[in-house]
Amino acid sequence: MSQSRRPVIAGNWKMNGLHEDGLALAKAVAAQAQQFDCDIVVCPPSTLLREIASVTADTGLGVGAQDCHQAANGAFTGDISAEMVRDTGATYAIIGHSERREYHNETDEIVKAKVKAAHTAGLVAIVCVGETEGQRDSGQTMSVIADQIEGGLPDTADAENIIIAFEPVWAIGTGRTASPEDAQEIHQHIRTVVSDRLGSAVGEAMRVLYGGSMKPANAADLLAQPDIDGGLIGGASLKSSDFLAIAEAVSK
Ligand code: PGA
Repeated sequence: MSQSRRPVIAGNWKMNGLHEDGLALAKAVAAQAQQFDCDIVVCPPSTLLREIASVTADTGLGVGAQDCHQAANGAFTGDISAEMVRDTGATYAIIGHSERREYHNETDEIVKAKVKAAHTAGLVAIVCVGETEGQRDSGQTMSVIADQIEGGLPDTADAENIIIAFEPVWAIGTGRTASPEDAQEIHQHIRTVVSDRLGSAVGEAMRVLYGGSMKPANAADLLAQPDIDGGLIGGASLKSSDFLAIAEAVSK
């Protein structure tokens, strides 16, 4: 982490969390959200967004959706617009997660349209990029990530309304993580690509998170890298003690 960028620890609950447990988890995290030297965000399923945003208001906890549709409204059965997300009280949206790219065929073009919609609605977009194992094995990691950033970020993006999450697909939910050194090299690359695209001031200020099996046991080493500005955490965000232990690692 660098001194100049405020770290972000964001929890991606994915399709987990019924009303009672989800609310209890959010409250447990919110109770300590202001104790750490970082922004803390939870991204519950959309069914819980409004209530979690409401009960955690004024605690300093950020609340985000896991997706939003690119259109403002219309005949898109099952989808939720960015304005609807904002209307719940949430202020973030994860966009382009690899599970959306894989199971919902989201392309970089769609990601860009969603990021624009999120910005129009006043949401901070957490944009996910990352290579598959096959792409990694064939030496394409850097080019795949550069293409995802080139294709997924609108020209109007800046460090206030975008957070990038580098999530190697092979590390998500597998217990395998990129080594801190490999992750650092890729984060630095991401910063360079963003700087080339949006200017070096934006590249320097943008928060770039690591995601993919981040846990209390490996968080400190990853977060110690100069270009890793926090984490997007799946499995370990479902237990408040694990999630908060990762936030704690930011301060070390
Ligand atoms: P994981 O998920 O921490 O369970 O690997 C991370 C993510 O998909 O955002």
